[in-house]
Amino acid sequence: MNVTRAVIRSTGHYLPERVVPNAEFAKTLDTSDDWIVSRSGIERRHFAAEDEFTSDLAIKAARAALDNAGLAPEDIDAVIVATSTPDFTFPAVATQVQAGLGMHKGFAFDIQAVCAGFVFALANATGLIMAGQAKRVLVIGAETFSRIMDWTDRGTCVLFGDGAGAVILEAQTGTGANTDRGVLASDLNSDGRYRDLLYVDGGVSRTGTSGVLRMQGREVFRHAVEKLAATACTALDRAGLQATDVDWVVPHQANLRIIRGTAQKLGLSMDKVVVTVQDHGNTSAASIPLALSVANAEGRFKQGDLIVTEAIGGGLSWGAVILRW
Ligand code: UT7
Repeated sequence: MNVTRAVIRSTGHYLPERVVPNAEFAKTLDTSDDWIVSRSGIERRHFAAEDEFTSDLAIKAARAALDNAGLAPEDIDAVIVATSTPDFTFPAVATQVQAGLGMHKGFAFDIQAVCAGFVFALANATGLIMAGQAKRVLVIGAETFSRIMDWTDRGTCVLFGDGAGAVILEAQTGTGANTDRGVLASDLNSDGRYRDLLYVDGGVSRTGTSGVLRMQGREVFRHAVEKLAATACTALDRAGLQATDVDWVVPHQANLRIIRGTAQKLGLSMDKVVVTVQDHGNTSAASIPLALSVANAEGRFKQGDLIVTEAIGGGLSWGAVILRW
């Protein structure tokens, strides 16, 4: 039986030039490189320049993905940007990307599911492709979290970074078996009872300001390992697969201890896990496409590899996508 599959045709990423090592924070805050590394695994992060915006990062990542696929902007039917730090309240960053690339057709919209945004975007883009609404979708995660930091809060400002990653998802014909290339299954969840654990304290309707990030880190941590392992297992089960079939985990990069704990719960060794948190910090919706693109550029994935992506963030919202490279 022929089915339409959404296959990753290419990846691309962009990181702002400015690299900020942990030691920078120790100049103004009661913190240390030791604390940040031992509690989070983060060693450095990139911050966007003053005149560099989320759409700029997204456009650069998108151009890299197009170049790597040998495709032109007119070959793309839809652009989805996962972001919680848009340039403007509206229009969507995705329309700015569209204009920046010189695309005059198709459709473009943003998805806001905070750190789970890219997983939500990937699942939605797959739905569009399987429904025949689009043949090629540019799916981007792009963030400038440095713009929503409280620089006096050592519990949050040392953790986040800026960046963008992109993938081109393309309709290809599969057999319907879980040996097909492409997205095989996904699992998406939200539970708004936990909305106060991680949020931004401003917004258009409430305050008329953009606000700054607030997080009860220990509480989010408590939910993370359990929910991430559970969503990965649910998605694997939907694909008729199990953890022993997995070649790579490309997790949301928030905290090395969460990444290790989740791998352990899944019974997977760390040499199957792509880790970039040391270099990027937590880039929210950009973290998974950044990690995918960096690992792909290093030639780590081979055709047929089974990849699990999983993420959790504000909402709480969490989910996993299972795909074959
Ligand atoms: O991407 C969205 C999802 N977000 C996450 O997944 C983040 C989840 N949470 C975490 O990653 C961790 O909870 C953190 C890295 C945020 C914190 O690690 P923790 O081991 O949970 O530390 P904690 O919050 O329990 O704080 C331990 C101590 C506290 O001091 P007391 O109360 O024990 O005296 C904090 O005040 O560490 C203190 N602390 C710091 N000390 C030095 C908090 N931040 C810092 C800091 N430098 N930057």
